[in-house]
Amino acid sequence: MKRVITYGTFDLLHYGHINLLRRAKEYGDYLIVALSTDEFNWNEKQKKCYFDYEKRRQLLEAVRYVDLVIPEENWEQKRSDVVEYHVDTFVMGDDWAGKFDFLKDLCQVVYLPRTPEISTTQIKLDLNR
Ligand code: CTP
Repeated sequence: MKRVITYGTFDLLHYGHINLLRRAKEYGDYLIVALSTDEFNWNEKQKKCYFDYEKRRQLLEAVRYVDLVIPEENWEQKRSDVVEYHVDTFVMGDDWAGKFDFLKDLCQVVYLPRTPEISTTQIKLDLNR
């Protein structure tokens, strides 16, 4: 079985996220999403989520491409996650291009083109207008 992992916040789940998850799943049979915790978002990215971790997790678990959701709690866990979960392919959107090449000795690293014109940040801006 080929295992794929991806990381993100996935707040206000939108079609850009679904596109990413669908294409990530095509790299294997089992897709793990490491979902950033509320604390990690706040402390490390200065981001306050609209939906808390439990709600974001439930939404992701309802997506047919997603097999397992685990917490992303720090920047350093990626190498140990790849080893612990026997990951073959690490996938991220290309806003992160090159940033995770240090994992290439452990697994395949793929950056997928982002879906244009949609992001959680943009949704929030549009709703506040
Ligand atoms: N993503 C994508 N296309 C989009 C938006 C996101 O492919 N239009 C991907 C990102 O590249 C990432 C994953 O979805 O691999 C989760 O992204 P996340 O940062 O949670 O979503 P954004 O909508 O980009 O949120 P924000 O605006 O808060 O950064």
